[in-house]
Amino acid sequence: MASRTTRPITEIGAAVVGTGFIGEVHVEALRRLGVQVRGVVGSSHARAEERAAALALPPAYESFQAMLADTQVEVVHITSPNYLHYPQAKAALAAGKHVICEKPLTMTSTESAELVRLAEASELVNAVNFNLRYYPICQHLHQFVREGGLGDVRLVSGHYLQDWLLLDTDWNWRLEPALGGKLRAVADIGSHWMDLTSHVTGRQIVSVMADLKTFIPVRQQPTGPVETFARTGGPTSARTITTEDCATILLRFDNGAIGNLTISQISAGRRNTLEFEVDGSNSAAAWNSERPDELWIGHRGRPNEILPRDPSLLNAEGRAAASLPAGHNEGFADTFKALYRSVYRAVAGDGPSEPEYPTFADGHDSMLVCEAVARSAQQGTWASVAPT
Ligand SMILES: NC(=O)c1ccc[n+]([C@@H]2O[C@H](COP(=O)([O-])OP(=O)(O)OC[C@H]3O[C@@H](n4cnc5c(N)ncnc54)[C@H](O)[C@@H]3O)[C@@H](O)[C@H]2O)c1
Repeated sequence: MASRTTRPITEIGAAVVGTGFIGEVHVEALRRLGVQVRGVVGSSHARAEERAAALALPPAYESFQAMLADTQVEVVHITSPNYLHYPQAKAALAAGKHVICEKPLTMTSTESAELVRLAEASELVNAVNFNLRYYPICQHLHQFVREGGLGDVRLVSGHYLQDWLLLDTDWNWRLEPALGGKLRAVADIGSHWMDLTSHVTGRQIVSVMADLKTFIPVRQQPTGPVETFARTGGPTSARTITTEDCATILLRFDNGAIGNLTISQISAGRRNTLEFEVDGSNSAAAWNSERPDELWIGHRGRPNEILPRDPSLLNAEGRAAASLPAGHNEGFADTFKALYRSVYRAVAGDGPSEPEYPTFADGHDSMLVCEAVARSAQQGTWASVAPT
């Protein structure tokens, strides 16, 4: 990475592409950090104008190209549907912008490999938005495991369950392979679980055995546009669905550890529940995204512990991700702030020589794991994750 002059984060200008569910979360996190949000880009200028006004932002850009032409924009956040990530990230890098791109990084590993190559050649800051790593408890666990707190990692298990696509009347662009990719639940939320557990354990997934299932083969698509997580009425047309509603996956890690993961977008009552447990040779640790400020630590020869997200009890990595004092709950939106604090330190020329945040290389690794999942499910055998 090229050396840069250190300067205040408040001098850095950013633009956010996509004004849906997660685009707004990006905007709010940037504002909390003091980054100048110069504007947003939407699917149409009219829609972007409406969202910009609602968020009290400067007038929206006329187009993606107009945003790239703004020399005050140094960092581009890409929060559009998945099929746009590759062309938009590529164009932003070519325009000399640092890029923070939502997951999944691209539609294929061929595309993600090219983005890694382009980003490295450009020496621009590149990050993939695996924000869940930045729950302070998860950052604490990352350091704790690295320092041997659990002993050798042996077993990694858990699930990521949602219910927002339970009914055949539930619709979103993620259901369409051309917009979201051939994998749906696995790429959309399974990618988060697999990245998070790889991060906290420091271990790579090397092979997988996957079973994918589409329980709702025909859905009713509203004839008008639909916001993510929105429930709609009105006219619909029947559409055949090929992307998976749920998946079970066995995992093998590079140190010999094994694991299993259940992923679903059709689990009634589970709005957004990610849980994992890591069992080591000395102790175990478990975390649940619905109680994000607590880490369960399991022991054999003494009572188990609950570590609260108390900055005075967390290690350096956990403390660095925390924003609030103990007892004042932190949540999903706070992880974006903590992630961008790390990324924008690098943009400001003030970061460590090696990025601490997830980069395009991590996004590419995730694509390779997802492609192994698809291959395994298709062939009914274990599939190795292709080398990077
Ligand atoms: N990190 C996370 O926790 C997290 C959570 C949700 C979504 N995501 C990712 O964020 C992305 C967006 O998901 P979402 O849930 O916000 O979807 P969404 O449908 O709510 O928002 C997508 C937005 O992109 C806009 N858009 C469409 N075409 C565009 C174009 N050509 N140029 C600019 N904008 C365009 C749409 O109008 C919409 O406002 C996806 O890649 C998804 O995987 C990540």
